[in-house]
Amino acid sequence: MANIGSYFSIAAIFIFALFTTSPSLCLAVRKFPSSETDTKFIKTWCDATTYPDLCFFTFSSYAAEIQDSPKTLTTKSLFVALNSTRLASKNLTDISKTQGLKPIETEALQDCVEEIGDSIDELKRSIVEMDETAGKSFAFRMSDIQTWVSAALTDEDTCMDGFSETATDGDVKANMRTLIEKVAHLTSISLAFVNHYAGANK
Ligand SMILES: *[C@@H]1O[C@H](CO)[C@@H](O)[C@H](O)[C@H]1NC(C)=O
Ligand SMILES: *[C@@H]1O[C@H](CO)[C@@H](O)[C@H](O)[C@H]1NC(C)=O
Repeated sequence: MANIGSYFSIAAIFIFALFTTSPSLCLAVRKFPSSETDTKFIKTWCDATTYPDLCFFTFSSYAAEIQDSPKTLTTKSLFVALNSTRLASKNLTDISKTQGLKPIETEALQDCVEEIGDSIDELKRSIVEMDETAGKSFAFRMSDIQTWVSAALTDEDTCMDGFSETATDGDVKANMRTLIEKVAHLTSISLAFVNHYAGANK
């Protein structure tokens, strides 16, 4: 059944949404039908990233689907990064259209929308490339993906720095930073997985 995967994704997003409002529901994540081995695999990979807690929280709900496949985990992480980047982009675009912003704030937001747009393209390209088998060697393909995911992370950091340098209204700035920071952390996790996967298969 091709749809089982998307049921899991939807369920995971739902539980994640619940968790952000009610931490006690964290326990629900553990009820996914995943074996201890699958969870351990994800824990090992997550522990090698800069954000192990966010990583394990994000990917343990996909354990049954990922099992012990580095490729599935890496691809999933690119999708997670892409989806969160897309959501952030929508949010930034909406906020840039709100009334009462200072010109300098509007400018910073528009720069950010552009940088985040580049980041989306780079992540999309990486996802397509992960699925290719013809042409390039594995090493060459992974090296391209490493380049693009690094570029996506740089674009997100540039966006965040733009806010730090702007005399933006305190709330707007804090919200934007939190939003982009989360995206950058998820992209950083994905880059760590890409590097790990590339290295493990040399
Ligand atoms: C990302 O978004 C796509 C399209 O909305 C969806 O099909 C997919 O399940 C999402 N993946 C993850 C990992 O959130
Ligand atoms: C998106 O932007 C709105 C303001 O337009 C804000 O209230 C909301 O919290 C933002 N969403 C996220 C996920 O940060």
